[in-house]
Amino acid sequence: MRVAEADTKSIGPDLLGIEELSAEQITAILDLAEHYREQMNGGTEKLDDLQGIVVANLFFEPSTRTRTSFNLAARRLGADTVDFSSSGSSLSKGETFVDTALTIEAMGVDLVVCRHRTPGAPHMLARHLKAGVLNAGDGTHEHPTQALLDMLTIRQRRDIRGLKVALVGDIRHSRVARSNIHGLQKLGAKVIVCGPATLIPRTITQLGVEVAYNLDEILSEVDCVNLLRVQFERQRGAFFPSIEEYAHLFGMTGERIRRAKEGLLVLAPGPINRGVELTPDVADGPNSLILNQVTNGLFVRMACLSLLAQERRRLRQSG
Ligand code: CP
Repeated sequence: MRVAEADTKSIGPDLLGIEELSAEQITAILDLAEHYREQMNGGTEKLDDLQGIVVANLFFEPSTRTRTSFNLAARRLGADTVDFSSSGSSLSKGETFVDTALTIEAMGVDLVVCRHRTPGAPHMLARHLKAGVLNAGDGTHEHPTQALLDMLTIRQRRDIRGLKVALVGDIRHSRVARSNIHGLQKLGAKVIVCGPATLIPRTITQLGVEVAYNLDEILSEVDCVNLLRVQFERQRGAFFPSIEEYAHLFGMTGERIRRAKEGLLVLAPGPINRGVELTPDVADGPNSLILNQVTNGLFVRMACLSLLAQERRRLRQSG
């Protein structure tokens, strides 16, 4: 597929969440990501799709995968990049979040990638900036590019329509869970959320998912598990008695893989905690797609940047 073909399925000037996207828009992003994967063919060739575009990474929260892959994706497509970290910035002198973003934008930035601990922070930037804004994770709300790379990884192995996917773990604090629920359901998958009752909000059923509190009871029926990290940094108070008990009840082990459906796909957004949400033999075993997810993250982010850059150019031309 050529980039121009994806142009007919514009995703708009910003990418703030999966909730706002249609199935057709999600599919267009995944198709373009696949196109970039084929075009790169394992190499490090530089393309020129983002020639003349400046991309700023504004990260107000730690990141390894998302930050690195957005940076690399922008450079692979020929963009200039600016990398901003909140630590060591003028935020410590009292500059606000929005003033910081406006300052960076004033240096000629076209696209802003934003991660922030506050839900809605990228949406606030989208209201204040002329630049296109990509949400790289906002608190417990959404992490759209993570869900897109998860869906691409699943789609490379199975038809998503009719698939049964379990999101296991800390659903309450997970932006990855929310983005995956929206995306997978739009593409026709059935989603089960599974974890301790204290980590599954009652309102989650309003999103149309099934709820399970016992991983062993659903193992034989699911095609894919996405193992979410227990987000201790977002928790106030204890949600389960001990890590050992959590790992015993909800950790994916070799023994559980043997009782699961043949060919179970094992995903984890990372960072992974070996021995908590999964054991090392599962993380490094044949069912694990964890590093495939990371690789796909690069192509998904190339696709998202490319689609938003087209929108920027269109807006520039129309004055
Ligand atoms: N999955 C994910 O968002 O990882 P990082 O926090 O390392 O970006």
